[in-house]
Amino acid sequence: MIEIQKRSSTRNFLEKAVEEEKLQQLLTAALQAPTAANMQEIHFSVVYKSNHILKEIDIQKNSLREVPSEKIFYFDAPVVIFLSAKEDFRWSMLDSGIAVENIALEAEHLGIGSLIIGSVYDALHSDKKEYFGKKLAFPEGYGFTIAIALGYKAAEKQPHDFDKEKQISIIC
Ligand SMILES: Cc1cc2nc3c(=O)[nH]c(=O)nc-3n(C[C@H](O)[C@H](O)[C@H](O)COP(=O)(O)O)c2cc1C
Repeated sequence: MIEIQKRSSTRNFLEKAVEEEKLQQLLTAALQAPTAANMQEIHFSVVYKSNHILKEIDIQKNSLREVPSEKIFYFDAPVVIFLSAKEDFRWSMLDSGIAVENIALEAEHLGIGSLIIGSVYDALHSDKKEYFGKKLAFPEGYGFTIAIALGYKAAEKQPHDFDKEKQISIIC
């Protein structure tokens, strides 16, 4: 699939907003992802760049680190989707990963760049977990799993290299 071959993380976004219709296509792709036992236990919180909560999360993220990041965690992308999932379901993290990759590949298909973001995990599971959970409209009993920043690419980037020999074993 060409999107798999072409996709690479975007950390340089244009100001241009993601059109509502395309955002809906991305969310549909997320909901079409398989989930263990068809639980559909993932929740998607769409947050626009203008919302101050993103800055608050970044401040909390940096407060937990010895060396603060120079760049804001979502690299000024116009929109960020936060995935949260049932905390007591063993496949929540894996299902979130599958859903977020569906979004990333659909974004690539639509000509939109994406960045999967885990760096705010500790901030969203810190002593401000409840506060952020409410602000991000996570359902009761749900916790943050992963996020994805989306927007038009300011520059193209090559996909990463990989080593088949190292990562694959064929057992006959
Ligand atoms: C679970 C997960 C969490 C990630 N978290 C971050 C992150 O917080 N910040 C970031 O800049 N990139 C993050 N990335 C992107 C990876 O750094 C990137 O996928 C990897 O370097 C390979 O590059 P590529 O996506 O361009 O192929 C994350 C990727 C995954 C799969």
